[in-house]
Amino acid sequence: MDKKLIVGNIGMMFGMAHVEGALACEDAEIALICDCNEETLRKAGEKYNIPVEKQCTDYHDIINNPDINVVSVAIPDQQHRQVVCELLAAGKHVLCEKPLALTREDIAAICKAADESGCKFMVGQICRFTPAFVKAKQIIEAGTIGEVYFVESEYAHDYMKIVENKDGSAHWRADPKRHGVVGGGCHAVDLIRWLVGDPIEVFAYGTHKMLPKVDYDDATIAIMKFSEDCMGKVFVSTGCKRDYTMRTVIYGTKGTIICDNTSPTMQLFVADEEGVAPEKPEIIDIELNNHNAIAEFAVFADEILNNKPVSTSAIEGAKTVEVCLAIVEAAETGKIVKPNYNF
Ligand SMILES: NC(=O)c1ccc[n+]([C@@H]2O[C@H](COP(=O)([O-])OP(=O)(O)OC[C@H]3O[C@@H](n4cnc5c(N)ncnc54)[C@H](O)[C@@H]3O)[C@@H](O)[C@H]2O)c1
Repeated sequence: MDKKLIVGNIGMMFGMAHVEGALACEDAEIALICDCNEETLRKAGEKYNIPVEKQCTDYHDIINNPDINVVSVAIPDQQHRQVVCELLAAGKHVLCEKPLALTREDIAAICKAADESGCKFMVGQICRFTPAFVKAKQIIEAGTIGEVYFVESEYAHDYMKIVENKDGSAHWRADPKRHGVVGGGCHAVDLIRWLVGDPIEVFAYGTHKMLPKVDYDDATIAIMKFSEDCMGKVFVSTGCKRDYTMRTVIYGTKGTIICDNTSPTMQLFVADEEGVAPEKPEIIDIELNNHNAIAEFAVFADEILNNKPVSTSAIEGAKTVEVCLAIVEAAETGKIVKPNYNF
């Protein structure tokens, strides 16, 4: 093994995107892939030409392999805390899927384990690598749209087919702890946090009309305050009858950006010197790459190899989950909730 990053990959469904990230990285080599479902494991092995001797059904084989120094975790959210903490304690750098975890206790435990481990930990908030959103952030940081005073994003994704197992039993996505705002809505919440910062107050309403087989609201609208000058809105629908979208609009004092993770173009309005916006936006072509796991792994590899601080750290993942939990709490209690960012 002559590469610097020797990788183990746990979870071979969405986790195949992480395999592609590692395969595309010239400093990385995959030593073991793992899935507790043998059929799923073999299919992934075949797809990526990874031989059976580099496949395992027990993630402890990855923990116990002294050559492996980086592990990606893409298994149900309920297991993130247990597996991540074991990996960090064993001295592995970890890339874990979003959401970081589902409860305040679990996110705090992961932050503590990451802090104490001396290892690098990244949470896979993939929207930070989505071309349209990367471009939007660059435009904001260049000052092109002035000061942002309102940002809205949505996570609209029909879960109807993915909240029930084939045998009719409840799926891990149907667990009330895995509320749609935390499980999927965390993408929109993380995106707006990344663009404008941490909200100080949130309020929300929810409805439950679309997914009778889950015990949580399947539509939630949240409004939030970032500062006296900036506010935001997040809409989450996990039962919507439309294609997947994360339509996002960013309003600034000099212009407006309209973008999406599922559109090949984005729109930019920039006002003239008199403050008048054009009637039609500038249309910017954008690469469609909704799950840019290759860029995500490349950034993590650079942070490990060059000992840089991790951009999407455990604290970042924890803050996003905290805002999501505050939204759920606000919708349930009818009260404004102030997120608590002390982890
Ligand atoms: N970033 C994104 O856009 C995105 C998209 C989909 C899923 N996800 C996240 O990825 C994670 C996995 O989601 P998924 O859609 O792949 O779920 P899934 O249920 O489709 O697949 C999970 C896989 O993990 C395996 N598994 C479960 N427990 C295991 C264990 N202890 N050891 C080894 N293998 C185990 C299962 O057999 C299964 O093959 C979740 O955290 C989810 O929230 C993120």
